[in-house]
Amino acid sequence: MNYKRHLITAALPYANGPVHIGHLAGCYLPADIYVRYLRSKGSDVKFVCGSDEHGVPITIKAKKEGVTPQQVVDKYHKIMGDAFKEFGISFDIYSRTSSKIHHQTASDFFKVLYEKGSFTEQTTEQYYDEEAKQFLADRYIVGTCPKCANENAYGDQCEKCGTSLSPTELISPRSTLSGAKPVLKKTKNWFLPLDKLSPDIKKYIEQHPDWKPNVYGQCKSWLDSGDGLQPRAMTRDLDWGVPVPVPGAEGKVLYVWFDAPIGYISATKELTSNWASYWKDKETRLIHFIGKDNIVFHCIIFPAMLMQHGDFILPDNVPANEFLNLEGDKISTSRNWAVWLHEYLIDFKDKQDVLRYTLCANAPETKDNDFTWKDFQAKNNNELVAILGNFVNRTLVLTHKYYEGKVPEAAQYIKEDLLILEEVARFPDKIAQALEAFKFREALAEYMNLARLGNKYLAETEPWKLIKTDAERVKTIMNISLQITCNLAVLGEVFLPFTSEKLFALLNVNPLKWGGAKQTNNMPAGHLIRKEELLFSKIEDTEIDIQIQKLQAAKKKNEEQVSAIASAKTAISFEEFEKIDIRIGTVLEAEKVKGADKLLKLLIDTGLDKRVIVSGIAQFYTPEEIKGKQVSVLVNLAPRKIKGIESQGMILMAQNQQGELSVVAPVKNNVNNGAGVK
Ligand code: MF3
Ligand code: ZN
Repeated sequence: MNYKRHLITAALPYANGPVHIGHLAGCYLPADIYVRYLRSKGSDVKFVCGSDEHGVPITIKAKKEGVTPQQVVDKYHKIMGDAFKEFGISFDIYSRTSSKIHHQTASDFFKVLYEKGSFTEQTTEQYYDEEAKQFLADRYIVGTCPKCANENAYGDQCEKCGTSLSPTELISPRSTLSGAKPVLKKTKNWFLPLDKLSPDIKKYIEQHPDWKPNVYGQCKSWLDSGDGLQPRAMTRDLDWGVPVPVPGAEGKVLYVWFDAPIGYISATKELTSNWASYWKDKETRLIHFIGKDNIVFHCIIFPAMLMQHGDFILPDNVPANEFLNLEGDKISTSRNWAVWLHEYLIDFKDKQDVLRYTLCANAPETKDNDFTWKDFQAKNNNELVAILGNFVNRTLVLTHKYYEGKVPEAAQYIKEDLLILEEVARFPDKIAQALEAFKFREALAEYMNLARLGNKYLAETEPWKLIKTDAERVKTIMNISLQITCNLAVLGEVFLPFTSEKLFALLNVNPLKWGGAKQTNNMPAGHLIRKEELLFSKIEDTEIDIQIQKLQAAKKKNEEQVSAIASAKTAISFEEFEKIDIRIGTVLEAEKVKGADKLLKLLIDTGLDKRVIVSGIAQFYTPEEIKGKQVSVLVNLAPRKIKGIESQGMILMAQNQQGELSVVAPVKNNVNNGAGVK
């Protein structure tokens, strides 16, 4: 299908932290390259993005910092917007979802679906904090993980064992707002019945087998999984977000994943009065660039919303990348394990293209990939400096040396020249083909092959030697080298825009469009070029060492935090202490608990009785090791079910800085079972 125009979006990043290289490699850089390519081809294209300013993590961050959510998003919206711009991410607009126009657009969208009867109303029981007088989002509830007994698992996930949870699965839940025990309370919300919409969604997905395998595969597995799609709440009991615009919805806002993608529409509205043709005309091609954690929202939920609404086109493609790791470890904002864009731009001023190059060359297109500073240095020194920079520099230097900076005439081509010219002219199509298939690494590699070809040509023809014997021939060689240089500027604009701009300036020509690089006579004889300047400079070990040390410092700080001695709890009276009944007991039997690799089921002789206790020590004690050992047992802890087994008490453990557990037991004299610990 031939499209009249393109609308390209990049996922709206959450405004609760700055941008790091993982974000860039995942979606912003590929999107930018693609858009620059479309523009260079002369397509009608708009590139929209903005900050995603709603959602629970933002409210949590605000609480932690003692500021309002609006202050949080104001801060990060600016940091992110500035950093993107300085890095050359060429959005036509960088908007935000706390804006008035977005609230209006999202609100109207919801109303349309509401009036069409697209939603089902469901009353469910949600945890409610009676002290703070509000419903608790999953992240506002912590409790003991039923899988691994971690006492600080969140209502949606235990970060210790990775299990995803629902708040009601937590053992002894507590509210992070007040510490109170939350109570279940009825609340009404509006659900999108994805189960009923499933056939239409399926049809839509199956119309796009051309999507990247990781994307298509994930969609199919959502659709085909055991239970299929489930209705999903599109409203939440929360006070930060777009208010739900229907009667009886006080204190509720739109689910952040309902409002955020509508942000693409609002941003387009803000950008151009002609916005409707980008959203309503079938001849517009809509493409969402995202990271892999966004696939279900962009391929299933948002299209389902758009279908229900009816006025809008659907995404034609959703190229998603996998994740980028850093020095072998998952990038983590909370652990400060990241390369932050705004810091990079200070430490490596004017080296935007080096990072763009490295991230594109290593883009996690088909699998997770790793960024290392050593590789960054190698890519700069061995590729940008040694291949691209070297070819361009030799060409410019020789042109000045032999011809005072004037492009010499190619008086006569020999066979080698003609072959080279033909090959050079093929690059725009080759690179375009890779770009159109979202194979950015391949496209960049092809681009570098053009520079390699130039180097090879110079190495084989050796104009610096030939100048003494065949000056006429050298003119042709240098003319061809200048044409290649010009084409490198044209094609390089999409990957390395800063370098391309510099190169056009050095060549003293106006930037050309993509198709211009199919020509090999862009530099007319007699045209005067500027004095050479290095495009890239070597990055020394010392610069890289600083970055590596920075990361090591972050790691150390984390380890210290993890192992820091917890501060003392609030004082209790002796009477309170006396309520605790701890006895010495002996482990009679021990076995692993099926389906829980951290738990052991123990049978313990407490002197009072023989009882079953489930304990999270399986990683530190084998059943054989613990059997026969004396332990301290909290015998008057209310029984509770763990993995379906009733656990009657708890055994005491000491935890060291690495989180390893050790039983606490008498070390002297002969202590009988049932002896009290005082
Ligand atoms: N804020 C989300 C994230 O960072 C992405 C939102 S994309 C949008 O994962 F479509 F919802 F805008
Ligand atoms: Zn757990």
